Amino acid sequence: MNRRTVLLSGVALAVGGAALISRRLWSGDSMGGMTGMNMDHSMEMTPAAEPQTSRILVLPEGAPLKPLTKLANTSSKPGVFEARLTAAPATVEFSPGKSTTVLAYNGTAPGPLIEATEGDRVRIEFVNAVPDQPSTIHWHGIAVPPDQDGGPMDPVATGTSRFYEFTLAANAAAPTWYHPHAHGLTDQQVYRGLAGAFIVKPKIDPLPAELGDTLLFISDLRLASDGSIPGNGAADMMNGREGDHLLVNGQKNPVLTVNPGSSQRFRLFNATNARFLRLAFEGHEMTLVGTDGGLLASPVTGFSEMLLAPGERSEIVVHFKAAPGAFRLQALGYERGWMGQGKPDGATKSVLTVNLAGDVKTPIALPAKLRDIADLGAAVANKRVLFSETMSMAGGGMTMGYLIDGRKFDMHRIDQTSKVNDVELWEVINTADMDHPFHMHGTQFQIVEREKDNKKNPAPFLAWKDTANITSGETLRLKVRHQFAGLRMYHCHVLEHESQGMMAVLNVV
Ligand code: C2O
Ligand code: CU
Ligand code: CU
Repeated sequence: MNRRTVLLSGVALAVGGAALISRRLWSGDSMGGMTGMNMDHSMEMTPAAEPQTSRILVLPEGAPLKPLTKLANTSSKPGVFEARLTAAPATVEFSPGKSTTVLAYNGTAPGPLIEATEGDRVRIEFVNAVPDQPSTIHWHGIAVPPDQDGGPMDPVATGTSRFYEFTLAANAAAPTWYHPHAHGLTDQQVYRGLAGAFIVKPKIDPLPAELGDTLLFISDLRLASDGSIPGNGAADMMNGREGDHLLVNGQKNPVLTVNPGSSQRFRLFNATNARFLRLAFEGHEMTLVGTDGGLLASPVTGFSEMLLAPGERSEIVVHFKAAPGAFRLQALGYERGWMGQGKPDGATKSVLTVNLAGDVKTPIALPAKLRDIADLGAAVANKRVLFSETMSMAGGGMTMGYLIDGRKFDMHRIDQTSKVNDVELWEVINTADMDHPFHMHGTQFQIVEREKDNKKNPAPFLAWKDTANITSGETLRLKVRHQFAGLRMYHCHVLEHESQGMMAVLNVV
């Protein structure tokens, strides 16, 4: 049965309530069907108690949506972007009268928006002022050389700094983002606030400027009753952490006012650790114009909802109704295969309220062609990667660990080897009982097809991706080519899974 009409990773067409499927977790037949299952008693679970979250702490809603703070370019040379990013604790008052210590880049969480143009030379000094922890900056979605990728092999010790330097390739325009990637610490440094948007702008943008360019950088936050950010408990480590408050650009349910009848461009980022965002504008359809790696060849109309797994981005245009009024951008419930206790309620949440007010505008027609996307062509090599789970009953409670090819991450081991410029067909098989978004560093890939229950779903159009959800029991096939020699990570982008070792090393030679 085709229980989910998955059009492309990150992009699910609405098929009524069909995305809500119940999985018989822990029933006999489902356990027997876990091909990747093996027992492992060497789990490194944090034995912390369940976080005592206060679901009563109220965050103000309804303030005007704030644009992200821009990171100033300190270079006056054309084609050069220079800046410094300092990661350090900062204080935010999310709830009136309660101060919250976050980790922030240059004092803001989310971090400042970086805007540079294709072809630019980027030189960013990173200062790590995170107390007692190494950190890095990983440029998620940008093809930077391996030694500039900010991976776990290149930690920046607390109290030290380094420069990241790279050139943005021609045709690299995309809604990318940046976040830490220190070994075992990515999850907590991100949920404490370290993540920001990095827009690589095209030299010439095919989309009309009148569409605007509204960035919606979505994260989620958990606060204890005293306003502090609690650590992860066992359910978080197993399933990935979902916060209690959905934030966009750091605000809870802010208001965006636009003209009735106007057409608006949005760039959507899923910067949460583990929340699968099934986004829908009440009463409106979305036109998809771009994915993780930038614009599509042509706009694709008619999406009533869009699924963004952790780490994914998409660019959309919405043609708003001509009548004044208010409605919500919602995050609908999504069944991703929660295991054990602590399952979130799955209730629809409001990400943003759109207020249609002012002069009535006329919709803006989109160009039929946005850019050329060439098929990567025939693959000359194949890779097969298995996502699996492993169960431990240690300490009286059941915990799951997640593996790639039966192993946990070891940065001193090479798991796969590819040749520079070879086009490869990767087959990534999710044998686990939960969705796991696959992410690869250093390049963008093209999804070829998905297969589930012996049914193949070819990708309906070419698109550049760096992160793609794989549902339980599904196989993802993609084509990829690496341009730089060196070591790259590929991993699950549920950050608690990545931090506990659902990650592997690709050596490009
Ligand atoms: Cu966005 Cu390896 O990460
Ligand atoms: Cu990445
Ligand atoms: Cu995972």
